[in-house]
Amino acid sequence: LAVTWTPAGTGPDGAAAIVGALLTPDGRADPFPLYARAHALGPVSEIADGRFLVCGHAAVDRVLRDPGFGPAARPPKDPGGAAGGSPSMARSILWAGPPDHGRMRSLISQVFTARRVAALRPAIEDAADALLDGLAESGADGRPADFMDRFAFPLPVTVIGELLGVPAADRHRFRRPAADLTEALELPALASPPGAVHADGPAGAAARELAGYFTRLIRERRAAPRDDLVGALVAARDAGDGRLSDEELLANLVLLLVAGFETTAGLLGNGLAILLDRPDVRAGLRSGEIEVPGFVEEVLRYDSPVQITTRVARTGGLTVGGLPVPEGGEVVLLIGAANRDPARYRDPDRFDPSRRDVKPLSFGAGPHICLGNGLARLEAAVALPRLLARFPEISAVPGAPRTRRDRLVLRGHETFPVRLVPSP
Ligand code: HEM
Repeated sequence: LAVTWTPAGTGPDGAAAIVGALLTPDGRADPFPLYARAHALGPVSEIADGRFLVCGHAAVDRVLRDPGFGPAARPPKDPGGAAGGSPSMARSILWAGPPDHGRMRSLISQVFTARRVAALRPAIEDAADALLDGLAESGADGRPADFMDRFAFPLPVTVIGELLGVPAADRHRFRRPAADLTEALELPALASPPGAVHADGPAGAAARELAGYFTRLIRERRAAPRDDLVGALVAARDAGDGRLSDEELLANLVLLLVAGFETTAGLLGNGLAILLDRPDVRAGLRSGEIEVPGFVEEVLRYDSPVQITTRVARTGGLTVGGLPVPEGGEVVLLIGAANRDPARYRDPDRFDPSRRDVKPLSFGAGPHICLGNGLARLEAAVALPRLLARFPEISAVPGAPRTRRDRLVLRGHETFPVRLVPSP
C-alpha cells in the first residue's frame, strides 16, 4: 500500500494553490470563489513552512490586534525613494513597529481628529455637488460618462487635498502616480518587501514624483505656515523634540495622500456597482427604507476596497488558529474573505443592507486600524445618496463594460461608464 504524504498547504486544493490562484488575473478579478475554498479548509491553513493563510473573521481580527504580530519588516532603503535614497511610503506609520508606530500615530491623530473630519462635511457636500455638475455635463444627452474619472477619483482627491492643504490646482496630477504606487502594496509578503518598489518601474517613478512634490510643499509651509495637515506636521517636525524625522514626515504625507483616495475611490465605485446591479437596494435607499450608514457598512463588508493585508511574527511562541508560528513567520490575512465568513455572517455572499451587527474588517483592526475610516465613511455616506438623488435613472451602458483595476490588494474600478438619463 503506497502512502503519499502531502505537506500542509500543497496539493490542488491546498492553501498554496488558493494563493497561487489569487495571484492570477482571474483570481484578482473575482477572488470570492477562492475565498469560499479557503473557508472550506478552515479559518487558518498553512501555505508552506512558517507561512499561513487566514480567512476566518475571528482569526483575522485576533492577529490584527495581537502585538506579537506586526507589519512585515521594512526594507533598509526604499529603492523607489527620491534621488539620494530618501524613502517614500516605506518609512510611514503603516509599516512602523513599536515604539516608532505609537509615536507617529499619536502625532498624526492629534491633527487628524474626528472634529477636523466632521468639519469637512459641508466641503464634501459642495465638492460632490460640483463634481455631479461636471458628470452631468459629460453625460448630457444620454452620452456615456465615466463615473471613476469624473467623480469617484476626484472627490476623495479634493477632500484629502483640502485636509492636507494641497493647492486645488495641483490635485489633478495625483491619480496616475498614486495608482502606480499602489503596486507597492500588492501582496508584499509573497512578492517583494512591503513598501519597496522597483526604482526603474512605474512605481519607482511615482514615488520620486510624489516625494519631490511634497518636499516642495514642506518647504513652502516652512516659509509660510498654515493651519492644514501639512502645516501641522511640519510644525511637529520642527518642534525639535525628535517626534518626527524628515524622512517620516515625507513618507506619511505620501501615505496620507495615496491611502486617502485610492481606497475611497474604490469604495464609491464598488458601492455604485451594487446600486446598479440591485434596483431594490437603490429604491430602498432613495425612499429612506434602507439607512445610509447600514448601506455603507454592507458595501464595505461585501466588496472591501482593501482585500488583504499581511503580518509577520515579531517573536517566537505565537500561534494562529492553534498552529505554531515561528519568529519571522508570515501571515496572509484575507480581509475580503473574513468579511464573508459563513461562521460570522449568514448567507455571506448576499448583499443585505438590513443585516445587524455588521463589523467589516475592511479598515483593519488593532493598533494599525485605518486612521481615515471616519472620513471614508463620511465621503461615501454623502456622495452615493447625492448621486442617486441627482440621477435617479443612472444605469450601466450596454456594450461598454466597467473595468476593474488589475490589483488584488486594492479592489476597485478603473473605468465605470454610466448613463445618467435614459437614452433618447
Ligand atoms: C490604514 C483601509 C481610507 C489613511 C488602513 C488599513 C486598512 C485601511 C485596511 C490597515 C492596514 C493594516 O493594518 O495592514 C482603508 C479603506 C479606506 C481607507 C478601505 C476607504 C474606504 C483612508 C483614508 C485615509 C486613510 C481616507 C486618510 C485620509 C490610513 C492611514 C493608515 C491606514 C494613515 C495607517 C494607520 C496605521 O498604520 O496606524 N486603511 N482606508 N485611509 N489608513 Fe486607511
